[in-house]
Amino acid sequence: MVINIADILAFQDLNMPKIMGLNPANRKCGITKEMILKAKAEHPDYNRYQLAKHLNCSEQTIDRRLNGNNIRGGKYAPGTHVKLVGGNLESYAYEVGLFLYDKRIWHKDPAWANSRWTTNTLKAVSETEDLYIFWKPGEYEVNRNRLTPKEWKEWGYRQIWEIPSVRANNIHPAMFPIELASRVIRLYTDPGDIVLDPFLGSGTTAVAAVQCNRHFIGFEMMEKYAEIARNNIANVVPSLDLQENSPLLESTLKNKTPNIRSSLFDNL
Ligand SMILES: C[S@@+](CC[C@H](N)C(=O)[O-])C[C@H]1O[C@@H](n2cnc3c(N)ncnc32)[C@H](O)[C@@H]1O
Repeated sequence: MVINIADILAFQDLNMPKIMGLNPANRKCGITKEMILKAKAEHPDYNRYQLAKHLNCSEQTIDRRLNGNNIRGGKYAPGTHVKLVGGNLESYAYEVGLFLYDKRIWHKDPAWANSRWTTNTLKAVSETEDLYIFWKPGEYEVNRNRLTPKEWKEWGYRQIWEIPSVRANNIHPAMFPIELASRVIRLYTDPGDIVLDPFLGSGTTAVAAVQCNRHFIGFEMMEKYAEIARNNIANVVPSLDLQENSPLLESTLKNKTPNIRSSLFDNL
């Protein structure tokens, strides 16, 4: 089993202090602390809502300027904190009998460098994602013939895979590059094997599987993405008869095996 995931993810956390870094360069409101203190001296009975009205700004601005607290995500929504996810994945997998075998790193490009999410933070732009490879105990082959000697040298035994991310995420917001799926499929499976992606999205894994002469099974819960996946798969295998109006995409490669899905589940 291979899981592709970012190394850190943001989780909602009620205990997270809701203080955000001040960003003077990004300040949109011209009201300064001195202006508020002056207004306060003139109207000592005003609370911060009245001061806000008087100075024509928000009460958050009054609070931020006076108390230095910038409230992340507003006052009432829970804060978010970032967590490393690899350890949790390893524990969950271990609990169901899967052992961590290896980890590779997909080095992409700083695609979000100029987005509004990254200009208001001192955090690094995410340029890597992890690939966790788990082993389900049983026999497996170390078949060096799956790749050419050149491929082994370039990426087969390399821990870091340099693959540009998909820039035009216009048909699905979280597509990964087909090269990423192809490398995983070619390294860990043989031609004719079945590749299952439970989160198929636009169908990248299925397209890669077909192109690498593997069978595939895919699940996608959102009909609009399942439709995109069907179209993308049909582009590489026009003769494929994918089930209409079903979230389950199921194929046989070149009409060879009529009932891949049940045979796969029998073996799981
Ligand atoms: C990160 S995207 C996968 C994108 C895909 N790798 C690609 O290149 O297009 C995850 C997808 O999983 C789908 N999904 C999430 N939970 C699901 C579930 N429980 N069952 C089936 N699909 C699910 C989402 O709708 C989303 O399209």
